[in-house]
Amino acid sequence: MKILFVGDIMGSAGRQAFLEVAIPMKRERRVDVIIVNGENSAAGKGITSKIAKQFFEAGADVITLGDHTYDQREVMPYLNEESRIIRPANFAPGTPGKGFVTVDTGAGKLNVINLIGRVFLNPYDCPFRKADLILNQLPKNIPTFVDMHAEATSEKMAMGHYLAGRVTAVVGTHTHVQTSDERILKNHTAYLTDAGMTGSNDSIIGCEKEAVLKRFLTGLPARFEPAKGDVTLEGIIVTCEAHGGKATAVERLRIPFHG
Ligand SMILES: [Fe+2]
Ligand SMILES: [Fe+2]
Repeated sequence: MKILFVGDIMGSAGRQAFLEVAIPMKRERRVDVIIVNGENSAAGKGITSKIAKQFFEAGADVITLGDHTYDQREVMPYLNEESRIIRPANFAPGTPGKGFVTVDTGAGKLNVINLIGRVFLNPYDCPFRKADLILNQLPKNIPTFVDMHAEATSEKMAMGHYLAGRVTAVVGTHTHVQTSDERILKNHTAYLTDAGMTGSNDSIIGCEKEAVLKRFLTGLPARFEPAKGDVTLEGIIVTCEAHGGKATAVERLRIPFHG
């Protein structure tokens, strides 16, 4: 099974790159399943049901989220209705949405889990213990992909080693800067600290530079907008055994988009 995971989609420029670069990879690169982090796809702030439906209609299989999950209030009921969009599983119990899903792909069934870290972020429930609880419930012997949405490299790497040998892949998101440490842990689990983002490089982590600089230089409130131009699609392709879920290859992606 070949799994394409795409890092945080940043605004309309990121959405366009995702639709025009990632989706054709299903055919051109024989990708069986596409997972995309959509937490910044609505002008940098969350996702709407309309955008999510657009991704699914185009060929995305699962959408993961992060700390921006609830930025658009409109999406909350949709998170309960549509099983293929998941938010971090260690959010407080009872909040809209769910944190994992099992989907059918052309190459067999796949589990996808979304977790969020607690270092330099809000005090969510423990992502490590939550992962244990979820793995006990999910179907066994099929591939399991984990999006670990976190700020700290150490926390993401800790999750990679914690789940090594038990899941197919642990890939980090949230920082919007791709790391170059892809590897296979315990001869089983693909790992990458951060997949990066799908958005403008001529930016500060995807936002227009001027507003971010104003905030740093003056401390005054500034409205952050996603930047446009010089867009790159970033992510990873994990190849794994459909039975047992062992990762056999990992390929980090950075694809310039000329929209
Ligand atoms: Fe985030
Ligand atoms: Fe993000």
